[in-house]
Amino acid sequence: MKKYLVIGNPIDHSMSPELHNFWLKKNNIDGYYNKEKLNEKDLKALFLKIKNKEISGVNVTVPFKKKVIPFLDELSLDAKNTQSVNTIHLQSGKIIGYNTDVTGFELAIKKLEYDVEGKKILILGAGGVVPSIIFSLNKMKASNITVSNRTKIKAENLKKLFKNLKTVNWGEIPDFDMVINATSVGLRGQDELNLDFSKVGEGKFFYDIIYNPQETNFLKKAKELGNGIENGKKMFIYQAAQAFKIWHDVEPEINKEVSELLV
Ligand code: ATR
Repeated sequence: MKKYLVIGNPIDHSMSPELHNFWLKKNNIDGYYNKEKLNEKDLKALFLKIKNKEISGVNVTVPFKKKVIPFLDELSLDAKNTQSVNTIHLQSGKIIGYNTDVTGFELAIKKLEYDVEGKKILILGAGGVVPSIIFSLNKMKASNITVSNRTKIKAENLKKLFKNLKTVNWGEIPDFDMVINATSVGLRGQDELNLDFSKVGEGKFFYDIIYNPQETNFLKKAKELGNGIENGKKMFIYQAAQAFKIWHDVEPEINKEVSELLV
């Protein structure tokens, strides 16, 4: 039986095993997908296992999306452009790093029929998934992208990868059409961002990368204020589907059953 893994720290909240094991079964593939909490010092041993074919595929989440890069033989174009890897696969003896978050986000937004072209985007947070979101938004021709992060230097550092990026201090809310919560605030139900969106007017689009809980306080309040909202579930499913395709060369079906797995 082939082994697959998602690594991260923390990792408890990840629902990747539910999704991948469902698709493995559906497609009669003899494999099992687990989650594993790692420390940075464990990465070397992990890559030995990949090279020795003890592990057939790995998904990577916070805080390792960049840290795995030195261990890889090659990067896909999206991984190179974002310096961020979320899917690893051994191909012809080479360990390749892919980034399926970029396409995952893009497919999710397209599915919603939200047109990013010409829109002003505000991103809250500067963690592991943010380079992928920025890259994706640039591809979809957002007119400008501003990042606000509690620790401003992390937002500033993103400018090395994305020259057109703007940054503002945490707490400042510039004019925007779409705001994306890419912080971890809201993962625990009661968490709240201490930001005031009551003066931005209604009819904006509030997107939360978090999908569990389904409606964070960020989204709840936005809805009360008359804005459109969406959580990160579709993005999560699409990035997983792309990883599944890379490993198994099968497009997994995305349907209601899949969506209901993640509640
Ligand atoms: P990492 O920062 O290790 O990549 P992440 O989960 O991808 O981890 O990112 C967490 C994000 O949530 C960061 O942008 C973090 O801000 P800092 O860079 O200042 O740590 C943000 N975050 C976490 N808790 C927060 C809080 N209470 N208020 C505002 N932002 C918070």
